[in-house]
Amino acid sequence: MNQELTTEEKAALKSIAKNLETFNKQRGNLIPILQMVQEHLAYLPSEALRMVAEYLEINACEVYGVATFYNQFRFHPPGKHPVKVCLGTACHVRAGDIILENFERKLGIEDGETTADREFSIERVACVGCCALAPVAIIGETVHGHMAPSKVEGLLMRIEIEKDIAKREKEKSESEQT
Ligand code: FES
Repeated sequence: MNQELTTEEKAALKSIAKNLETFNKQRGNLIPILQMVQEHLAYLPSEALRMVAEYLEINACEVYGVATFYNQFRFHPPGKHPVKVCLGTACHVRAGDIILENFERKLGIEDGETTADREFSIERVACVGCCALAPVAIIGETVHGHMAPSKVEGLLMRIEIEKDIAKREKEKSESEQT
C-alpha cells in the first residue's frame, strides 16, 4: 500500500527534482539517482520513482523493476519504531521466523511494510553480530536478545505505554507554561 506523502516529503521531492538536473539523462545513472532519492526520503515512494522515470525518459515499470532488484532500496517509509528481526542462521534455528510472524500479526503489516500511522515498520535482517543472544530483535536502537514469540506483545505494549507517558508529560508541561 502506498502511503500519502507528508508535507516534509513533498518539500523533499522539490529538492530531489533540482538534484536530478545534476545527473546526465543516461540510463546508467539510474542507481545513483535512486540512491540520491533514498538519501533524501529514506525510501522510494512511487511519486519519486515516476519523477525519475520522467527525467530519464524511461518507463516507470523499468525504474521500479531495477529498484526492486536491489535490496538496498526501501519502498515504505521507516516507522518511528523500526522493528528488525534477525533471521541469520543462529536466530532462524531458534524460531526467528515465528518471532517475525508474531510482529507481523500484532502490527498488521508484513516484512518491509510500515503501519499506516508510520509508528512501526518491520524488516527481516541478516545476522546482526550477536548470535550468543539469539534469537534477536531490534526495536529502534534497542537490541532484544533471547527473544521468544510470547515476548512480542509485551514489547509492543511497553512502547505504547512509554508513548502515553511521554504524551502526558508533554501535555502537563505545556499546561504548566500557560
Ligand atoms: S544470526 Fe542473529 S545475531 Fe547472528
